[in-house]
Amino acid sequence: MQGSRMKALEEKILTEGTVLPGNVLKVGGFLNQQIDSDFIMEIGKEIARLYESEHITRVLTVESSGIAIAVAAGIALHVPCIFAKKHRSANMPREVYTASVYSYTHRETYEIAVAKDYLSSADRVLIVDDFLANGNAVRGLMRILEDAGAQLVGCAIAIEKGFQGAGDELRAKGIRVESLAIVDAMTDESVRFRAQ
Ligand code: G4P
Repeated sequence: MQGSRMKALEEKILTEGTVLPGNVLKVGGFLNQQIDSDFIMEIGKEIARLYESEHITRVLTVESSGIAIAVAAGIALHVPCIFAKKHRSANMPREVYTASVYSYTHRETYEIAVAKDYLSSADRVLIVDDFLANGNAVRGLMRILEDAGAQLVGCAIAIEKGFQGAGDELRAKGIRVESLAIVDAMTDESVRFRAQ
């Protein structure tokens, strides 16, 4: 059985990523501001391979940069992709599940919301995100699943910042967290990945 680490992603981080002050890994050239369309589909297929036997019915993420990878996973799993909204908009239904999320990066608390129409107790849900740092976004999405009575199957993450601890905390609680690359340490000269 193959592990969950994706060599091609690690290589892309090394060749195209840059480390910014404040422990921020910039991958705007292929994962965030500009999306490498073929590569994001490869990530989606890898996530689908990892969870193919889990009978997933929905993929869930939070806007905005999680959406591309979640859609790629949804396409590969042939299931809908839902994303939690961070800002109320006029076309948002009134019946929503909500959770408060604190962002360390932006030092603010914001509310995320998912329309009740799109999530039910019959769902088996995979949470997908581009980054797992402190884990607050994922924990907010987990609270929404609890509220909906939906089953959390696991989390699929492109880049986990292992040194921030959230992935291991979730694993210690028995949650299946599969990260395609785990950065255990980084400086502006080097990035060290966790082995399988
Ligand atoms: P958490 O969600 O794991 O708790 O992390 P945190 O609050 O620290 O992260 C806040 C935002 O910053 C998240 O996006 C997260 O994806 C992103 N982020 C965290 N670390 C890095 C990093 O090293 N590099 C990059 N590129 N992003 C990082 P967000 O605020 O929800 O914004 P967005 O999804 O709209 O971009």
